[in-house]
Amino acid sequence: MSVNWALPFEERLLPADKSKLLDPKIYLELHKQTVENFKEFWAERAKELPWFKPWDRVLDDSNPPFYKWFVGAETNASWLCLDRHVASWRKNKVAIIWEGEPLDKNGKPLEIKKYTYADLYKEVNRVAYLLKTKYNLKKGDTVTIYLPMIPELPIFMLACARLGVVFNVVFAGFSSASLSDRINDSKSALLITADGFWRNGKILHLKDIADEALKTSPTIRNVIVVRRLGNKINIVEGRDAYLDDLLREVPENVYVEPTRLKSEDPLYILYTSGTTGKPKGQVHDIGGYMVLLDTTMKWAFDVRDEDVYWCTADIGWVTGHSYIVFGPLMEGVTEIIYEGSLTYPDAARWAAIIERYGVTILYTSPTAIRGWMKNPKEFYTRYNLASVRVMHSVGEPINPEAFRWFYEVVGKNRNHFGSTWWMTETGGLLTAHWAGLYTTPMKPGTNGMPLFGVDLEVVDDKGDPQRPEERGYLVIRKPWPGLSLTIWGDPQRFIQVYFSRFKNHYFWTGDYAVRDRDGYFWILGRADEVIKVAGHRLGTYELESTLIQHPAVAEAAVVGIPDEIKGEVPVAFVILRQGYTGDDKLATELNNLVRAKVGPIATLKTVIFVSKLPKTRSAKIMRRVVQAVATNRPIGDVTTLEDEASVDEVKKAYLEFLAEVEKIKSDPNNKQS
Ligand code: WTA
Repeated sequence: MSVNWALPFEERLLPADKSKLLDPKIYLELHKQTVENFKEFWAERAKELPWFKPWDRVLDDSNPPFYKWFVGAETNASWLCLDRHVASWRKNKVAIIWEGEPLDKNGKPLEIKKYTYADLYKEVNRVAYLLKTKYNLKKGDTVTIYLPMIPELPIFMLACARLGVVFNVVFAGFSSASLSDRINDSKSALLITADGFWRNGKILHLKDIADEALKTSPTIRNVIVVRRLGNKINIVEGRDAYLDDLLREVPENVYVEPTRLKSEDPLYILYTSGTTGKPKGQVHDIGGYMVLLDTTMKWAFDVRDEDVYWCTADIGWVTGHSYIVFGPLMEGVTEIIYEGSLTYPDAARWAAIIERYGVTILYTSPTAIRGWMKNPKEFYTRYNLASVRVMHSVGEPINPEAFRWFYEVVGKNRNHFGSTWWMTETGGLLTAHWAGLYTTPMKPGTNGMPLFGVDLEVVDDKGDPQRPEERGYLVIRKPWPGLSLTIWGDPQRFIQVYFSRFKNHYFWTGDYAVRDRDGYFWILGRADEVIKVAGHRLGTYELESTLIQHPAVAEAAVVGIPDEIKGEVPVAFVILRQGYTGDDKLATELNNLVRAKVGPIATLKTVIFVSKLPKTRSAKIMRRVVQAVATNRPIGDVTTLEDEASVDEVKKAYLEFLAEVEKIKSDPNNKQS
């Protein structure tokens, strides 16, 4: 992981709004109380929301780690996001402002669409009607949604949620093979996709990719296609239909009653990359998830009715699920959804969007910020960014330089800015500098303080708390609402991956972390075989198993190396089968294979052909050794945490591997490195 272990614990504290400033000690004292009484605490939070029927028990923890929150309660996420707003003065408030990527010759967006809450409600009801009557979908069925950043994506998600249909959104940047795997694992009978979309000035032919996936997805019986571009696509008679054609037969103002669902019923499945094996379908519940989102929308973002909110993530990842679709719409905000690249046609597109709509709350990523930093500050001063009040970053550690740059250029050295840590599995953000609470001073580079009621801790190998400023493993010691229910179809794996590494059903996050003397968390990056490319989570295992599919490849090890913009990028070390030569052509071929099977986000930075890989006695690749060599880090840094081999063995393996890689790099005939 691209982490500088020498942490700047003395980072100067920046003032938050002084009138709301809270001494960290007091925050931590309050935090302790909420953790000790976490059930009561969460029950109080849950009372903030309406329910069809209230709960009988706050938490059923009789079968850990399969926790059920707000047992006996009935709710519906679509109802929470729409019906209550439509029944209030927010009915005609703008919910979504959508901007397409293409611009006219004056730099103005060619397409802007606005949806009030009433418009959104209408569309969601019509789509729900369609799903229910035409496709016979009902509670508990699964569908896969493979859509770009267009309004139909949240509309379909909300329509499914209305019926209790469990949806599985697949990021539109994923390849046909990734899509097919996810369809097959979720056993969906319906796929919703689009003809294409704009990205970086180019058209992406999404339906073609979907068609390719469908060759190996036997469960799909029907496909609904959203006409985004009107480009020519292949339509399979009897299987595929355009959404606009289908909607023509749906009554204009049809009402579909939101199904009364149990709090612990599944809302959606979202696949994440993990330590080993195929992507894991995380299943989120409704009640607990919505309570966590309501709490964090208020406390982290301090949402108010006059806000214009913009989360720059893609809805295909968890950040978009929680903080573009369900969180903001539940709060009744006006939000921006932008189709395309944040740097199209130039690096100031994001600034133009902030100015155009007067964005007040911005949720973005370190990768985006680092991309913007490539230009001098003056590049952005032609835009008025003064509307922004609260900013947060997510997805990967934010380096202090990026933090300070953004804090100055957008935050004008006065806005609220912090890094929120969380994961797909946690449902919502669990650490922040809490803008909507009496907040602790901002500390650049840190992830702020843990959310009330969440027992976040840094522990050693045995699961005992580390002392301040000692690096350890980040765990969560008590359940919280929003925690994933299970892995779809594989509850054993859920136990094994998250709850068997540490004692007492601690949730193992997979991250390294440090807590400093003031109680701030520094999340340092993954301790396992996960890399974060531009904040997107990839399992090195997925990339390795893809490479091995190539006839030339005998073995492969993939690790992440630091990248100035993307945080990390993958590098592959490959052992070839006899009779193959490691040259540029083969390297390109392997890269194309990875791009085709996983998606362009997985593009390898380099392929290095080696004759052997460092291994333990039980033939496990010593990943940390490979990583140390790839990142030019001495092995000293990486032996601190357990390995299957002894320190001496690791060192020997390191030196041997280093020598080989050095030799390859210095070979004038070798252009691989
Ligand atoms: C990393 C994304 C440091 C972390 C919401 C975690 C972060 C993984 C931060 C989950 C942050 C996320 N600072 N690291 N603010 N936010 N991470 O499931 O390694 O795509 O385990 O969820 O991202 O990635 P996921």
